[in-house]
This record gives sequence, C-alpha cells and structure tokens, in this order.
Amino acid sequence: MDEQAFTARVTGDDRVEPRDEMPDGYRRTLVRQIAQHAHSEIIGMQPEGNWITRAPSLRRKAILVAKVQDEAGHGLYLYSAAETLGADRDELLDLLHTGRQKYSTIFNYPATSWADVAAIGWLVDGAAIVNQVPLTRCSYGPYARAMVRICKEESFHQRQGFEAMAVLAAGSPAQRRMAQEALDRWWWPALMMFGPSDVDSPNSAQSMAWGIKRFSNDELRQRFVDATVPQAEFLGLVVPDPDLRRDEETGHYRTGQIDWSEFATVMRGDGPCNRERLARRVAAHDDGGWVREAAAAYAAKHAAARAVAA
Ligand code: 3HC
Repeated sequence: MDEQAFTARVTGDDRVEPRDEMPDGYRRTLVRQIAQHAHSEIIGMQPEGNWITRAPSLRRKAILVAKVQDEAGHGLYLYSAAETLGADRDELLDLLHTGRQKYSTIFNYPATSWADVAAIGWLVDGAAIVNQVPLTRCSYGPYARAMVRICKEESFHQRQGFEAMAVLAAGSPAQRRMAQEALDRWWWPALMMFGPSDVDSPNSAQSMAWGIKRFSNDELRQRFVDATVPQAEFLGLVVPDPDLRRDEETGHYRTGQIDWSEFATVMRGDGPCNRERLARRVAAHDDGGWVREAAAAYAAKHAAARAVAA
C-alpha cells in the first residue's frame, strides 16, 4: 500500500474509511482501543446500575436510568465501529470475558454511597469528555463519527453528576461529608483514566502519528485537572491532594504523584471490584443467550422467506 499517501491522509483532516487500504498495525491498534473503549462502556453500567433501585427521588432515578441506558448504547456503537475493521463482536466479548482485553480501571472501584453516583457523573464522565472530544477528530471515520454522538450524551452525564454533587455540597453537614468522601474516593482513580504518563505509554507515539490520539495522556489529564479543581472549589470541596499547587506562571494546577502501583494493581485485575464486575458481566451475557438465539432464528427465518420470494 502507499504508506506516504496513508500518512498524508491521517496527518491531515482526511478520514480513513473501512474500505480504504490501511497498515495492519493501524487496524490492530484501532480494534484494540475501540474494543476496550466499548468494554469500558458496558462494564461502566454496573457501578451506577446498582443504584437505580436506591436513587433518592423519582427524578434522580429517571436520570440514572437514562444515563445507564446511554452507556449501553455507547458500547454498541463502539462494537459496531470495531466491526467495520473486520473484528468479530463475539470474539471481542470473549476476549473481555476471559481477561485478555481490558476495560477502564475506573470501573473497578465500588460506588458505596449516592454521592459516588454523583461523583462518577462529575469526575468520570467529566474525564471521559476531555479524553473523548479529541477522538471526534480521530483519523478513522467510523470511530470519529461514533464519538460525536457519544460526547453529546457524555455532556449530559457530566452535568447531571455535577448538579447532584452541588445539591449534596449545599445540603446538610452529613450530605456535605458524603460529597467530600466521594471526591476523596474518585479523584485519583479519575486521573488514572487518562492512562500511564507519556514516558510510560507504549502506544501513544504511534497512535499520535496515525492521528488516532490527537493529544497525549498527560496533556489531557492536565486539561481535566485545570477544569475540575475550580469546580471543586466552587462546590466548597477539597481536592484530596496535599501537593496540589497552582502554577501562577502557566495557570496550570500541579498535582502530587499519582500512585502508579495502584493503577498497575487494578489493571492487573486485583482492584477492589475486578472479579465482581467481570463475573457480573459474564453472567449477564450468559443470561442473554436465549435473546441472541431468538433474534438469530428470527433473522434466519426471514432471510429464508426473502430468498424464496426473490
Ligand atoms: N484502564 C485500563 N487500561 C488502561 C488505562 C485505564 N485507565 N489506561 C491505559 N490502559 C492500558 C492501555 O489499554 C494499554 O494496554 P493495551 O496495550 O493492552 O491496550 C496500556 O495501558 C498502555 O497505555 P497507553 O497509554 O499506551 O495506551 P493507549 O494509547 O491505548 O491509551 C487510553 C489509553 C488513553 C485509555 C486510550 O486507549 C483511549 O483514549 N481510549 C478511548 C477512551 C476510553 O477507552 N476510555 C475509557 C473509559 S470509557 C468511559 O469513560 C465511559 C464513560 O461513559 C464513563
């Protein structure tokens, strides 16, 4: 294939489409990233899904149902985007279920109070927006287009989370304490969502050369910190980082050291909820087997009827 033409395409504003020639490595890293993104969306339904029956009001329940449903849809969009690269959805799910593909570490932490649901919307979906808006300009067309709609819905997710945090932070002392404890639990895992530091990221350089990643892990993490620290201050909450400083020259906030050993532990499968999340996921997939069989039988019957009619 014409590597020079391909490089010119991915570094410009052109898009690579499914039928275009592409280097095997480009296809492989896209399947890897898109599949793991989809897995993250599907597993990400669990922490908040556990709170749908315990939401504090009908309004909060309706918002949470809509959000969890959105995450499922994001997963399906992204599996479809992976399929345009020749990936097989069943194989991708098997790689997830057998621990051979990853999902975001963030979803291996427990949501122990309603304030965690609020913090997930504010911080986790907030981090997702910072990480995913640049993907709307990814060089691979189907992924970039899927991200346009996903980012619109993530914005609703972040706003509802921030609003729920604001209600708690302005509430009773017990509610304010819940909000602060949730920020304490979710701040550092949210920073880890952006991936390892640039010096330790084996995929970033190539992904950026191919126009898949438009900014590095550290650049996007910095954007998130700069946007979120003022929000915490507005809420009257304290970011759990004694080393956090504002660099008066650059205007950036400098954080303390991220605990990369914790990141590695959770990524390895030894986080607080890894086993529970995966077991729940596999059980849900198995429980849904009859639906897939019925849909396949229906499709086959109608395909046969159409063949006879043609
Ligand atoms: N959790 C789990 N694995 C992670 C991770 C995390 N937070 N951060 C990095 N990794 C993995 C990478 O997948 C890679 O492993 P692999 O080679 O086996 O796939 C390894 O750590 C090294 O990381 P790199 O930075 O070199 O890898 P990438 O270039 O792929 O960058 C990424 C990692 C920034 C997560 C990038 O893949 C990305 O932007 N993905 C798309 C967005 C995404 O997947 N977000 C996950 C959350 S989804 C979500 O938030 C949904 C929302 O609705 C709440």
